[in-house]
Amino acid sequence: MKIITAKDIGTFGLDALFTDAVRFLEEDLARWQEFKKSARHAIHYDHGVFELMPCADNAHYSYKYVNAHPGNPALGKLSIVALGMLADVATGYPQLVCDMTLLTAIRTAAMSVLAAKHLAKPDSKVLGLIGTGAQSEFQVYAMRQMFPITSIRYYDRDEAAMEKFERNMQGSGVELVACKSGDEVVQGVDILTTCICEKARVKLFDYASVKDTKQLFINAIGGDCPGKTELDIELVRNARIVVEFFEQTKYEGEIQYLEGDVAHDEMWEIVQGMKPGRTERDGIILFDSVGFALADFSMMRILHERGIGSEIEILPSLENPKDLISLLRP
Ligand SMILES: NC(=O)c1ccc[n+]([C@@H]2O[C@H](COP(=O)([O-])OP(=O)(O)OC[C@H]3O[C@@H](n4cnc5c(N)ncnc54)[C@H](O)[C@@H]3O)[C@@H](O)[C@H]2O)c1
Repeated sequence: MKIITAKDIGTFGLDALFTDAVRFLEEDLARWQEFKKSARHAIHYDHGVFELMPCADNAHYSYKYVNAHPGNPALGKLSIVALGMLADVATGYPQLVCDMTLLTAIRTAAMSVLAAKHLAKPDSKVLGLIGTGAQSEFQVYAMRQMFPITSIRYYDRDEAAMEKFERNMQGSGVELVACKSGDEVVQGVDILTTCICEKARVKLFDYASVKDTKQLFINAIGGDCPGKTELDIELVRNARIVVEFFEQTKYEGEIQYLEGDVAHDEMWEIVQGMKPGRTERDGIILFDSVGFALADFSMMRILHERGIGSEIEILPSLENPKDLISLLRP
């Protein structure tokens, strides 16, 4: 069995990891019907959440353990850390245990850009970003791989997070426009990514501020558990909704407050050409991203196929598999 640390994963470098992430994710969305899927299991506290995210095909079973603790940065810790496990379906034996913190950021950015590829204007130039925490640079990196972004308008309520973002973006050749509010960010944007971390029903800007923006694509990644949303409900009511897996998003996403049947498309339907990407009739399209286990499966598949990490013996290895007690013999 392999142990794969964040350092091992980091040695790949962002370009290689991201290219693989988009390719593996697209391949797995193209064979969505082969997967055994379920909404994730969550245990909530007032200050955070713990989630288990399983997904399997006929060769491998995977799950990710992930938290979200918005108060952690004040303690010098990440809001979100994650661990993954991939097992062999034939025997049930685990093949690898890995850090998924970095890969969560990468798979989320890969999913965002896959959604944008189908749902945003191809000539999108102005990117809006609300929330400049840990995910933000990955999100920007991903959009810049696909779109001719010339300008980024951004806001975070934490000035230090805005300064960090500005430092990390220095020398990137894009115009950086620091804003004082969400309503200021959304002026004239083609793509908007919202990625704040607050366990509350937040309204980052008014629907009226974007109502007339033609062909706007909103990639909302921060509203991802019950009672944790980012957008004006009027906007959600008036947008075309695209989700990863409706059974999960209806409890966790921006759509959790919508009443009645919610018209929606799932990403795999668009990737497989069963539903259209952006059409002439579409105004605002909202990708109501909450994070789905299939994307984590795809990331663990990369690690497994690349064969990186260190061998470690955790499980018992026995001459006679019925003689488990022999392990305790002196
Ligand atoms: N959809 C997915 O697949 C997915 C994957 C990973 C993370 N997430 C979510 O994305 C969000 C961001 O994650 P992160 O790792 O960057 O978190 P983070 O804590 O590093 O950054 C979040 C930022 O949001 C800012 N913020 C909080 N409330 C705000 C408000 N009301 N207005 C403006 N700024 C505000 C904070 O100051 C912070 O800088 C989290 O909510 C996380 O749960 C979703």
